[in-house]
Parts: sequence; C-alpha cells; structure tokens
Amino acid sequence: MPSLNWIGKSAVEHHHQEVPYRLVHCDGELSAGDPDAGNLLVQGDNLEALKALLPYYAGQVKCIYIDPPYNTGNEGWVYNDNVNSPEIRSWLGKVVGKEAEDLSRHDKWLCMMYPRLRLLRDFLREDGVIFVSIDDDEHHRLRVLLDEVFGTNNFIACLVWQKKYAPANDAKFFSDDHDYILVYAKQKNLWSPNKLERTSAQDGKYQNPDDDPRGRWQSDNYTSNKSKQERPNGWYAIVNPNTGEEIWPSPTAVWRYPRETYEKHVEENRIFWGKSGRNTSPRFKRFLSDVGGVVPRTVLLHADVGHNQSAKRQILEIFHGQDEVFATPKPTTLIAHLLKIGAGPEDLILDSFAGSGTTGHAVLDLNKQDGGNRRFILIEMEEKIAREVTATRLRRSVEGYDKGGDPTKPVEALGGGFRFCHLGVPLFNEFGDIDGGVTFSDLAAHIFFAETGVPIPTKATGQTSFLGKHAEKAVYLLFSPGQEGFAREASGNVLTPAALADLPPPPEGFEGMRVVYAEGTTVTPERLKAEGVVFKQIPYQIEGL
Ligand SMILES: C[S@@+](CC[C@H](N)C(=O)[O-])C[C@H]1O[C@@H](n2cnc3c(N)ncnc32)[C@H](O)[C@@H]1O
Repeated sequence: MPSLNWIGKSAVEHHHQEVPYRLVHCDGELSAGDPDAGNLLVQGDNLEALKALLPYYAGQVKCIYIDPPYNTGNEGWVYNDNVNSPEIRSWLGKVVGKEAEDLSRHDKWLCMMYPRLRLLRDFLREDGVIFVSIDDDEHHRLRVLLDEVFGTNNFIACLVWQKKYAPANDAKFFSDDHDYILVYAKQKNLWSPNKLERTSAQDGKYQNPDDDPRGRWQSDNYTSNKSKQERPNGWYAIVNPNTGEEIWPSPTAVWRYPRETYEKHVEENRIFWGKSGRNTSPRFKRFLSDVGGVVPRTVLLHADVGHNQSAKRQILEIFHGQDEVFATPKPTTLIAHLLKIGAGPEDLILDSFAGSGTTGHAVLDLNKQDGGNRRFILIEMEEKIAREVTATRLRRSVEGYDKGGDPTKPVEALGGGFRFCHLGVPLFNEFGDIDGGVTFSDLAAHIFFAETGVPIPTKATGQTSFLGKHAEKAVYLLFSPGQEGFAREASGNVLTPAALADLPPPPEGFEGMRVVYAEGTTVTPERLKAEGVVFKQIPYQIEGL
C-alpha cells in the first residue's frame, strides 16, 4: 500500500507511547451545572490530555469530531511536542509560518497530528467513528495519514461542507466555498450511520391523490437503466388493466423488479397508471409509512447545516456582542448533524481540538431536544480560550443566557453540566517512582488499564483492594498513598501471607488468575502459584510506565 513519508515521521511513530500519564484535576469554580452529568472540559495539550484520559475512556467513545488547525500558514500555531530527535527539536516553540518562510510546515503538521490520531483511535469503540474537518491545505495529506492510522479499509466518506453563504468575488482564482470532513470507522463492518429524521419538506413530496387508506405516497420510477442482457428477469410485458395495452420497457431499460415481484405489487395495489389510469408507463406507489429516516448525504449545504457566518453570529450572541472572542468556530448545527449520524442518545463524544466548545454545545442541545444522555469530553490547549471561551460558552448553554446580552431575548437553559479539569504532574517521576500526589484511585485506574487494556469498571476508593475483573484476570492493588517507595507491612502495601488470605474473593464463577500489585511480597513463589496469584511489584512491573 502506498504510504506518506515526511521529515520526522520515524521519530513520532511511537511518540504516543512515550508521552507520560498525567493526573487530571477538576476545578469546581470553572465547572457548571450538574458535575455528575459525565461531561469534561480538559485544559491542556491534547497529546498529554488524551494520554491522561486513556485509562478511563479507552474503547468507550462512539464518535470523535476534531477540527484541528488547518495549517493555512495564518493560524500562528506552534509545534511543541517534546520529541527526542535533533531534526524535530529545532522546530520546538517556533510558530509554523507560511510556505515560503517555512519549508517544513507540512512535516510539522504531520508530526503534530500523527501521535494524536494514534491515541484518538484507542478511544473509539469498535463500532465508533471519527469525523475530521480540514480544507485544501492538508486534505490530501490527512487522507493518507488517516488511511495509515485507521486503515484504508475503514474509510467511509469525504463530506463536503458548503461553509460560505456568499462567494468571495475578490478571490484570485476560485471562491473557496467548502471544507472537507473525512469520515473513518474504527471497523467499517461494525459501523453504520444513523438515518436522519425526515424534514417536513421531504415529507411534503408525499401526497394522497387517490385517497389510499394507507396514507400519503410518492410515485417512483418502475424502470431501471440496466440492459436486458444484464438483467434478463426484468424484461417482460406488463398490461395496463385500464386500457388492455401491453407495455414493454424502453429498449435500453428493464423493469426494476422481476415478474413475481410485479405481480405482488399488482395484488397490493401499488402500481399507479397516472390520475386517468391510462398512462403508458407504470409507476410504483411508495408509502410514507414504508420509508424510514433519510440516508445521510456527502454534500452538506449551508442551508441545512449552517455556515461560517452563522457560527460567528452564534458566538456574538453568546458573548454579548463581543467581537473576536473566537475566530474560527463551526456552526452548532453542523456538529449536531454529524453527531446525529455518528452517535446515539446514550453515547460518549470526544473533541480534542475544542476551540469555542461547539461540540459540547451541540451535545447539550441534542440532549435537550430528545431527552438523550449523550456525554462529551472536550480538550482545549490554550488556557485563555479554555477558561474564557470554551468554559463560558458551555456554562451559558447549561444555564441559559440573553442573546447578545439583551434581556428581552432570553435563550433557554439546556441543562446538564460539566467539570473543568486541568492536567497535573505525571503519575511517575523521571526515575519511574510514583509521584507523591497520586491517590489510590489514580493508581488503581492506571494499573487496571495497564493490566487489562480496558478502563476500570468502577472508580476505586481504596475501601477494597479488588479493582475489578476483565477476561481471565482479577486485579488487586495494595497501595498506601504517601508510603510509596517504602514496602512496609504495617502500612498495608506488602502482599504478606495474611494479606493474601484476606484478599476479597473475585466474583462468583471467576476461574482466572488473580494479579496483585503491591510494593513487595513475603509470600513464596510456590504458595503464590498454588493460590493462582501473580504478584507484580509497583512501580517496576506496571506496564506502560
Ligand atoms: C479550529 S479550532 C476548533 C474550533 C472548534 N471546532 C469550534 O467550533 O470552536 C482549533 C482549536 O484547537 C486548539 N488546539 C490546537 N492545538 C491543540 C492541541 N495540541 N491540544 C489541544 N487543543 C489544541 C486551538 O487552540 C483551537 O482552539
């Protein structure tokens, strides 16, 4: 399979594995509404934030939407990943500029995107999907990158979004009116898009001119453009019962259905010969009650999903007319459209380039509309944006606000809530020791994920050493925060014969092995084996350190 190469690729291919696991702390003051609604806004670089969240959410996200910097040369983004390679180190901290002044700007962008996409993939459920917004600057490179990370076979579609309302008549070449949205499934054979609700305009095409008791219907073509060689069972004569005329399809077409199906349609009174009944070609009566939702289309018109200007207007309304709060928002209607296709009402949604928080707003909106319980995780790197724009927008959406600050134009509260979080220190310091601020529940979540590859089933409080089971493993942790680095029987962080005997039993019927993490053990290897216990010493035997 052809693949893309760029400067620094070999240095970033495993970078996502080198990024440390950090603690996540929540800040009540910047949070709003119901803190237990299951929604998070994390301030921090998404590479580190994704890594920090992975132990809690791996394999749980149904739908990812991201809108990364398009690399237009005007955004002023900075390549900041601490990748240990001389060629990449020289880029550190420098603004990525225009083509002429920055010959490696596409390399930098690809180096930035690659490890993030690798991590994002790990968040998706097997039946999950990712939508990525992009424009012509990086579209073709992104497509090949996504092929590499998600697999060519998992490509679903390249959507075209009409982002502009009015053409740019001052454009030198073409008025650039669209963006792309690339769609990849985690596993194409397991993902299917949700059908969209029918609009009243679509339903309006269904009428009932003959008062059919089955309700409104629309007439469809009864012929197909296949040749009789291609589809011989569609080549037969039909008789109009009102005129007795024998009718054949045109020489270049066939009937859409074989004769047996046609006879069934006659029995069901589904063949329409025009109002007079004397038409020379039959039509098929398709009833509104037979058609389900609408299949999503690859072209997204601004009339249906909004445009850049409508997104900016919405920001102005939320931020009381303040100009330039956020320059590149997407319309909530666009993101809501994608979420309707990609997620159900109980699903978890992730946006790791959150910007003004449109994705969170769209989630709250959809929940309000249909009583759903969608949850979101948003990540925004810029502290000022995260605190002053993303968090403010989410808070106002949750609590309600006055459009443009005008009390005569109140906007209803959408309800729900979110926790604002930021990243703390790495779980393990430079020597590989557990940081002093790590709690039992932090370490438990990390260990369970490292051992099983899936998130811990319930938050560990330290009341019991049993963390949970997955497949053939029941996982235990003996850990006393503040005592790390010192194996002391008295503090309960050593697996002694007494502690072994006291381990809470795994759930009934469990027949796998028990994996016990502790600072040390005084139990003999023979006894451990006889008891079906594998001992792992923290921190040295924690995978993914
Ligand atoms: C194009 S904007 C997203 C706009 C968003 N879709 C909206 O509707 O408001 C990209 C955002 O990603 C943020 N960003 C860029 N690099 C990031 C990173 N490494 N981690 C987290 N956020 C990042 C930028 O600060 C910016 O706010």
